[in-house]
Formats: sequence, structure tokens, C-alpha cells
Amino acid sequence: MDGVTRGEVLGLVVRLAAVTTLSYFTMKILVDALDPTKKQKIAAQKRAQQILSSLGIPSDINLTEYELLIASQLVDPSTITVGFEDIAGLEQIVTELRQTVILPIQKRDLFCSSALMSAPKGVLLHGPPGCGKTMIAKATAREAGARFLNLDISSLTDKWYGESQKLAGAVFTLATKIQPCIIFIDEIDSLLRVRDQHDHEATAMIKAQFMQLWDGLTTDNSCTVLVMGATNRPNDVDKAILRRMPATFRVGLPSAEQRRSILTTVLRMEVISDCVDTWRLAKLTEGFSGSDLRELCRSAAVCRVYQLKEDQEKLDPINMEDLLTALAKMRESKIECGGSIPRPPDLD
Ligand SMILES: Nc1ncnc2c1ncn2[C@@H]1O[C@H](COP(=O)(O)OP(=O)(O)OP(=O)(O)O)[C@@H](O)[C@H]1O
Ligand SMILES: [Mg+2]
Repeated sequence: MDGVTRGEVLGLVVRLAAVTTLSYFTMKILVDALDPTKKQKIAAQKRAQQILSSLGIPSDINLTEYELLIASQLVDPSTITVGFEDIAGLEQIVTELRQTVILPIQKRDLFCSSALMSAPKGVLLHGPPGCGKTMIAKATAREAGARFLNLDISSLTDKWYGESQKLAGAVFTLATKIQPCIIFIDEIDSLLRVRDQHDHEATAMIKAQFMQLWDGLTTDNSCTVLVMGATNRPNDVDKAILRRMPATFRVGLPSAEQRRSILTTVLRMEVISDCVDTWRLAKLTEGFSGSDLRELCRSAAVCRVYQLKEDQEKLDPINMEDLLTALAKMRESKIECGGSIPRPPDLD
């Protein structure tokens, strides 16, 4: 070569390689430092490893980085404290859930033998707030002994652009790897809402991908993964998503009979006076949700502490007066907050 020796060319190549490598690592360090989610990711992966080992999932299962992030949202069914015995007045729904969801998980071999018999891949619980949807989902997971992925929607959408899709994909691949698994999406309308042209591109892509992966579950009879969604706005959920949730349960505001049963269940561990008339209370609480009734009992139980006399060491049993006072207070504060009791019959 004219005027340039072999040694000089080699030196140039080596320098170029060194500069490229240095730039690569500098960029990587910069990008890592700029990624605000890095620390969270490491913590989530550590948590995931702990949960996986507590669930007895073998460490050689080979999860990707994204699957590990999702795995941090797994719930150990043995740590779920809510059982069907705590859910009052919804016996019909509980029986149907036992047949459509729990039995196919527990008797997998029988149910996967035919496409017609395989468990539904989607279950929707809908109804007004505070009526027990989340409670039912948790109790179902506990009873079925299935792995329960309590999917936090913000963990999918909060990431840097491009990662959301990978995370959405990881939800399904992880669930398949660790099946039987229930993917629970609370407030499903917030992610899988009716699609419109104003949707952010990333959100639209997640929705499309979700549906595609969901369909993948349906084609495999032996796959025991199901998506369980809860919402109090079923009309806002995309119709295509609703179609994928053929088993639908409406958890409405409790009737007087159901309210009585909820009051009895909530008070069953408390010391109550003989004068407590749950039937009368049930009639007085028209329009109350299960959560309102629980709050009523909590408030009545607490107000005994305020009434405690100086020389008194033990609390009196909860009596009817405590409950009626709590009820009057609740009505007052609801009205002050712009609400009214009874509520409109149905928020759906
Ligand atoms: N049927 C019920 N039996 C006993 N307790 C109930 C019942 N329904 C509601 N509760 C009480 O109300 C609380 C709230 O219920 P839950 O969180 O399941 O409501 P939700 O339907 O998921 O409401 P939201 O739509 O606001 O998420 C429960 O923790 C429980 O204490
Ligand atoms: Mg809920």
C-alpha cells in the first residue's frame, strides 16, 4: 500500500475497535443510569425468585427477564386469607364458580380430553363497587390451589415504550409455564377498554397482543390458564374482550336477605349482644354494598372504645344502639359527600 504500512492499518483498526467498545459501554451505562425503573426491576426480580421458590416452582424453569418481572406479581394461594366461607349471600355464584372454574382445574385430566369440556379461558365478574368481586377472585384461587397472578395493569403500561408489549407477552408465557394459573385483572376496563382512535399506539398494540395470546390459550385443550377479570363498568370493556370471557357472573348490590347474611358473617367473630337484630338492620340498609356493611360493623365496634369508662377494662359486647348510631353517621357522611342512600339500584 502507498505510504501506509500494515502496522498503521492494524493500529487504526485496533483503535477504532477500542473507541467503539468504549462508546458502547458508555452508552449502556448512561442508558442504565437514565432508566428510572432499574432499581424496581432488580427488586421485582428478587421478589419473584422468592415467590417462585415458596410456590415450589423448580429453579430450572428458565424464565426470561420479562417473565421474572411479571412473576413478582404472583400470589401464593396459601397466603390468601379470604375463603368462600367469608363470602356471604353469594352461594349461587360460588357454586357456579366451583363447577366452571375450580373443578376443571382440579380434575384437569378429565376436562382436557375434549375441546368442548375444557375450562373457559375467560371469566368476568361485574357489578357495582364493594360487592365482593375481588374477594371472590381471591377465594377462587385459594380453593382451586392454582397459581394466582394478580396482574397490576400499571406494571405493563408504565414502562418505557417498546417494553409493554414484551411484558404483555410474558404474562401469557409465564402463566403457561407455571400452569394451572389464574391471571386476575382487577378493573379490567382500565386496560382493555373499548378501542377508539384516540388510543395511544402502545395501548392499542397491547390490547391486540393480549387478544392474540389469549386465543392461543383456547387452541390448546390441555392448557389450564384462565383470565379472570373484574369490573364495575362492563359496558366500557371492549366487545372483543367480552367475547373471550364467556363465563360471566354478575355480583350485584345485596338484597335484604343477602345483607342480613353479610352482617351475620362480618359479626361472627365478634362478641355481640343478644339485642342485635340483624334482620332489622338488613331492612334499614337498603342500597348498602357489602363493603358499606362491613364499614358499618367496624364503626360500631370502634365506637365502644370511645364510650369506655375510666375504670372499665373490658369492652362491652356490640349492641344494637352502637350499630344504629354507626348507621346514622354513615348516612350523614354519605349525604355530605354528595352520595345518597339508597344508591341508584344499579351502576352498570
Ligand atoms: N358478599 C360479601 N360477604 C362478605 N363481605 C363482603 C361481601 N361483599 C363485600 N364484602 C366486604 O367488602 C369488602 C370489599 O369487597 P371487594 O373488594 O371484593 O369489592 P369489589 O366488588 O371488588 O369492589 P370494587 O369494584 O370497588 O373493586 C370486602 O373486603 C369485604 O369485607
Ligand atoms: Mg375490586
